[in-house]
Amino acid sequence: MLKKGILRIIPTSVKPLGWVVLNNILGSYGQKFIGTGGAINSARSCYSVWLRHLVMSYKIGFLTHPPDVVAELGPGESFGVGLAALLSGANKYYALDIIKHSNINQNIKIFDELVDLFMNKEDIPDETEFPELRPKLDTYKFPEYLLTQEHLKTALSSSRIEEMHNEIINLNETNEKYISIFVPWNDSRIIKENSVDMIISQAVLEHVDDLKTTYSAIYQWLKPGGFMSHRIDYQSHNTSVKWNGHWGYSDIAWKLIVGRALYLINRCPHSYHINLIEKAGFQSNVNITYKRNDGINRNKLAARFRTLSNDDLKISGCFIQCSKPDKSKY
Ligand SMILES: C[S@@+](CC[C@H](N)C(=O)[O-])C[C@H]1O[C@@H](n2cnc3c(N)ncnc32)[C@H](O)[C@@H]1O
Repeated sequence: MLKKGILRIIPTSVKPLGWVVLNNILGSYGQKFIGTGGAINSARSCYSVWLRHLVMSYKIGFLTHPPDVVAELGPGESFGVGLAALLSGANKYYALDIIKHSNINQNIKIFDELVDLFMNKEDIPDETEFPELRPKLDTYKFPEYLLTQEHLKTALSSSRIEEMHNEIINLNETNEKYISIFVPWNDSRIIKENSVDMIISQAVLEHVDDLKTTYSAIYQWLKPGGFMSHRIDYQSHNTSVKWNGHWGYSDIAWKLIVGRALYLINRCPHSYHINLIEKAGFQSNVNITYKRNDGINRNKLAARFRTLSNDDLKISGCFIQCSKPDKSKY
């Protein structure tokens, strides 16, 4: 009945697939049942994501050694990216999500596998293994220039690994030495101002409803000279056949598609993010966009999106890195 109602007001070119309707009916329970839709749920994928963001941060000159305090928005099905940050030498990892997706067993398994990957200085899993992962790198060699033998000796010392392992076993307690979990997070005061070196997210900001508050919270948490590193995927996340078909839905159709789901996608295009980032006070240092030419045409756009620029209409994703200016240096 509900499904029929939705389908009637949605143009056939952008009809949603079954899971969206299921999600709509199940609401937030659906999210738990269906999973995050995220791609990083194995140690190798978390290792690859973390090292890609890290290598890119080094390349742009944000860091000369691995960051000390790292926060992640939307870790999803595991804290693997944060655990990789800790094994790279970070002393604190904040995990911020709106739903608890991960569990202790999964995190312990990923942690133990990550230890082996770092111990063996495995190369970064590349496009053959993860063809969809972005950003791409020039080389996937283990970054020994950053994670030097000497640095790893301390970062991977057996006492440190044992301490972290024990902490993960008791992960239900939120505020520990290495890991602090805030799920759901809804107040910027959870993290001290000017205290974080790097804030990372992978396939998350397209889901965040209140982007303005989120970008200003990130700005507040970062130390002056700290930076954020995000992969954003602007595609329809299976809500339509064409990758950008979500921009073809009227507001009412979209409301029905989202239904009771705790989050779906916010439908904000690239320029909207860049605008908010600049307004929050960031310097936009890296802005890599991924374009597609096979989406819906301008004449299929819903009224709300008619003024999308030609660029926004084709930008299916991005990798951005932006720093918080250190005003003491001016
Ligand atoms: C597609 S999943 C990505 C998960 C993981 N980063 C990955 O790549 O597999 C999106 C994640 O964003 C989280 N999320 C949605 N809205 C959020 C918000 N406002 N703040 C933090 N996380 C949010 C979801 O709960 C989910 O964990």
